[in-house]
Amino acid sequence: MVKDAQGVYVTDIDGTTYLDFSSQLVNTNIGHQHPSVVRAIQEQAAVLSTIAPQHGYESRYRAAELILDHSFDGATKVFFTNGGTEAVEHAIRMARLHTGRYKVLSAYRSYHGATSTSINLTGDPRRWPNDYGTEGAVHFFGPFLYRSAYGATTEEEERERALANLERIIQFEGPSSFAAIILESIPGTAGIMVPPPGFLAGVREICDRYGIVYVADEVMCGFGRTGSWFGYLDHDVKPDLVAFAKGVNSGYVPLGGVVVNEAIAATFNDRVYPGGLTYSGHPLACAAAVASIEAMQSEGIVENARRIGDEVLRPGLTDLAAKHPIIGEVRGLGVFFALDLVSDRATKEPLAPYGGSSPAMNDILAACRNERLLIFNNFNRIHVVPPCTVSDEEAREGLARLDRALSAADKYYTGD
Ligand SMILES: Cc1ncc(COP(=O)(O)O)c(C=O)c1O
Repeated sequence: MVKDAQGVYVTDIDGTTYLDFSSQLVNTNIGHQHPSVVRAIQEQAAVLSTIAPQHGYESRYRAAELILDHSFDGATKVFFTNGGTEAVEHAIRMARLHTGRYKVLSAYRSYHGATSTSINLTGDPRRWPNDYGTEGAVHFFGPFLYRSAYGATTEEEERERALANLERIIQFEGPSSFAAIILESIPGTAGIMVPPPGFLAGVREICDRYGIVYVADEVMCGFGRTGSWFGYLDHDVKPDLVAFAKGVNSGYVPLGGVVVNEAIAATFNDRVYPGGLTYSGHPLACAAAVASIEAMQSEGIVENARRIGDEVLRPGLTDLAAKHPIIGEVRGLGVFFALDLVSDRATKEPLAPYGGSSPAMNDILAACRNERLLIFNNFNRIHVVPPCTVSDEEAREGLARLDRALSAADKYYTGD
């Protein structure tokens, strides 16, 4: 039971304070209770708490303008939603209406949200009970050298083989049936696998070759998490649509949306886009987005995320890997790192099975709690994902707590 939170700390009703290395669900990029964001919500509430989407007003206009300022060249419009899964649903709907096609490609090892289309595009076990084979989702293995689906031994091989496989699937599934490919620019919940250089550009080329819309899902990796405003920006690639949420205003008030390129926006110039939402562009959420993006700009918060990754988290986690053999791989950037935990480095046997947990993982999570460290866990992985505002000292303190917590599972290592 939480009482309050401040910066990177969360305090429960008994007065115990936890260091938040999870950013909740990887969304409080700006930390808890940033004063200018709280004030913006209060000021907006005092003058215009709600308004239907057909009316314009200052904060929505300004939020869209700021988001477009940080987006790809040619980003034209923003369609606001209430969160990430709606952003994905609407991006796919736009792609389908724009192309007149239905099927959508997405990656195994991905998460795109909990509503019907998003969960079916998702590549993790949460899809299975929701899959009636009706959503037109076709999955493929994206690049992930540590657990390569392609038997690759270098990043270049992994990139080339993943791209060749993707193209072969398109050819065999029917090139003219695909409306979109949706990819997390850096898959988040599924394991923070930074794609090899050139992979996303290769996906772009395949999309162009077959008239497929490229949707970047930036819900988790966007707005500073990777040390860039958006994950795709580091990969020299221009998506057609970008789904965002979480870090746009750190979830102080729910908000998501789709950044739309010129061609797709033009599809709906003379034709109604059939997807209105009562709360689209909600004033409190948009006011929070404006204040949050402005604070990120003026306080160098995105730059801080990159620096913390390079100077504290990557070296610190690499040191932990030298100490704890259960750490099979450290990967990530910015404030977006994963520890892939194994019982044997040679076989890479995961410390918990795909889709499951294990006594070893439970021991680590219990130890994190004892250390007063909030951490993100998925199957055999621990994700180190503090707010982008985390200081050097806080990041080092979190690593020290994590070090002690990992010791709880060292006994499960069975390798040499
Ligand atoms: C990449 C990605 N897309 C979509 C979503 C869904 O967002 P929401 O939970 O706001 O609906 C998430 C949530 O974690 C996500 O990580």
